[in-house]
Amino acid sequence: MSQLPLGCAVIFHRLRPFLFALAAAGLSFVGVAPPASVAAASVSPPACTYDDVPAKNAAYKDWNMTLLDTIYMVPKSYVPPDLVSTAQAGLKGGVVRSFVITDLTAMANAARMADAGLRVISAYRSWSTQQFLYKREVANWGPKIGPQRVARPGHSEHQLGLAIDFGSANTNKLSWQYGDWAKTAAGAWMEHNAWKFGFILSYPKNKSPSVTCYIYEPWHYRYVGRDIAAKVHASGLTLREYLWKHYTS
Ligand code: DAL
Ligand code: ZN
Repeated sequence: MSQLPLGCAVIFHRLRPFLFALAAAGLSFVGVAPPASVAAASVSPPACTYDDVPAKNAAYKDWNMTLLDTIYMVPKSYVPPDLVSTAQAGLKGGVVRSFVITDLTAMANAARMADAGLRVISAYRSWSTQQFLYKREVANWGPKIGPQRVARPGHSEHQLGLAIDFGSANTNKLSWQYGDWAKTAAGAWMEHNAWKFGFILSYPKNKSPSVTCYIYEPWHYRYVGRDIAAKVHASGLTLREYLWKHYTS
């Protein structure tokens, strides 16, 4: 701008709001960047194709920024170094990354106090376990529906050691054996309260599978920590949309 004659600069300055309005409407002008708010509003994840792109922010220390979906993946060697038993949180049934335990304990206690006791059905899953589950699901449901129910190895949040499939305490019934586990005491409590403890429902009903890439799973929660969980909750976005918008695009 400083190279322009003063008159041009003044005219440009006067036209700026108008140019931005046009840019926001989808028109682009060379050299006119839309304001950040306009740029952010247009960022959304791509269609759920099946690809094998190495995930961004895939270092173990970047755990809360790692987006996995049908496109992004971690390698077979991704095995979190700090896995511990969920029994440490009073909910035996799997292993998760060590820093999940504090919030998992608080959440389990709060749920129990609200007569909505939880149990852990599945937590960390290795690449090999995920491969077994994926093949079984495709054999049972076919090549179109199977991959919407179980992620391919490398693509599952369970391999991050951050995802937990929850069930109701005091029953052996699996959460996917209910019509909608979110209608049970434990499932409903989780839907309303899990985010306060750092857990986000990865595949909510209203955007699954179209946006999340997987079918509605009222039992599958991903730990992102309380800060990001509160932001995801306030945004109204799914976790895939939020992580894409802030850390991937
Ligand atoms: N069921 C979810 C998508 C998984 O396999 O990670
Ligand atoms: Zn799950």
